[in-house]
Amino acid sequence: MEVIQIEGGYPVTGEVTVEGAKNSALKLMAATIMAPGTTTLTNVPNISDVHVMGKVLKRLGATIKVRDTHTLVIDTSNVDKWETPYELVAQMRASTAVLGPLLARFGKAIVAMPGGCNIGARKIDMHILGLEALGVKFEIDHGNIHASAPDGIKGAMVTLEFASVGATENLMMASVFAKGTTTIDNAAREPEIVDLANMLNEMGASIKGAGSPIIEVEGVKELHPVEHAVVGDRIEAGTFLAMAGLTKDPITVRGFEPQHLGLVLRKYEEMGMKVERGSRCCTVSRMGSLRPVDIQTLPYPGFPTDMQAQTMCVLALAEGTCIITENIFENRFMFASELNRMGADIKIEGHHAIVHGVKTLQGAQVKSPDLRGGAALVMAGLVAEGTTTVSAIHHIDRGYERFVDKLQSLGAHVVRKTIEADDEDFL
Ligand code: UD1
Repeated sequence: MEVIQIEGGYPVTGEVTVEGAKNSALKLMAATIMAPGTTTLTNVPNISDVHVMGKVLKRLGATIKVRDTHTLVIDTSNVDKWETPYELVAQMRASTAVLGPLLARFGKAIVAMPGGCNIGARKIDMHILGLEALGVKFEIDHGNIHASAPDGIKGAMVTLEFASVGATENLMMASVFAKGTTTIDNAAREPEIVDLANMLNEMGASIKGAGSPIIEVEGVKELHPVEHAVVGDRIEAGTFLAMAGLTKDPITVRGFEPQHLGLVLRKYEEMGMKVERGSRCCTVSRMGSLRPVDIQTLPYPGFPTDMQAQTMCVLALAEGTCIITENIFENRFMFASELNRMGADIKIEGHHAIVHGVKTLQGAQVKSPDLRGGAALVMAGLVAEGTTTVSAIHHIDRGYERFVDKLQSLGAHVVRKTIEADDEDFL
């Protein structure tokens, strides 16, 4: 088993470049199903979630060539299947993103029901309700969702109960070839939604309003393949910038749009960090002690749930008490109990975390509960006294490319290593 081991207390400073956004790349890959032919995606992160989506597409009949690590050449001409099995959906819930594209291309799809995952139930009832409004019929059978549009997909008005990212994406894709106009009301506004709409429009779709709460999709006859660059990963960027709050020295991150981290950077300023926003880059440095700041996660442009753990890690060392409220996912505080094992003082009450700042953290053996929680534990190790060993790092590999290499380039004393079976039981 592999672990990440960190020696705390060394300066972490310098420049790092982020990859393309995981949460965009996965959906763009799914969207290639709708444009038979060869689409080239550049700036794709080389992470395990992308590999799983590659397996999903191959299972459907696509071929994928990898060029220069970050370019995927996806040929969807021969896609002739419309079923995504449980073994793949169970590995990555985002594989449900093929539902909309398969319905658009074939008028039918079979997708295994996503089960629970580490950060909560992650239901898809809103996807189903929205697609039903477009004329899609659903049957649940032996754990699979059978979707079909016997009379074709028809444009309609869909009002989402919550600005769900996944539901907005599936509806936007399913309605690309619909008869008439589809309006998605209370749509998610994440930059990854805008990236997906941009690529679909480059392919010939007619989508207006992406990035606002009302998206309008005018049905078109067909899409053609394109070359498209994935938007920079705001969450990877935010993770490295948060480290500046811990280690006091400036960190510059390149390859993303600072406005995509609007509220995160504002909160960092409130915490006492200096933020210098540039063109596709940002520098953060800590000025003196850290002030406690309350945070609540909300759909974009609110504070992203994907930055909650990393920010809690910084606030665990602030001078005073603050409250972090998680509104998007249940079970997303699991890493807090690991952080407490390192000396943090965090109490969980329902979906609130009460964070009492402490002066120092101590290195310990801890286990990644999920992707962002795992990254936050590595961050904690950078400032903890002594050695921290983080296990279950497959979670981190899902979303961070060469995380350890990038930390080393910033001066961190961190290694990835394989441990013996006996130690494995211990961890
Ligand atoms: C979520 C995040 C997104 C992040 C992604 C990866 C939000 C709003 N979304 O997107 O920013 O990039 O995780 O970590 O922050 N829900 C239902 N029924 C549905 C769909 C969703 O109840 O049909 C619930 C979910 O269980 C969850 C919330 O709505 O509590 C947010 O869901 P959604 O935005 O769809 O999740 P993701 O697309 O995974």
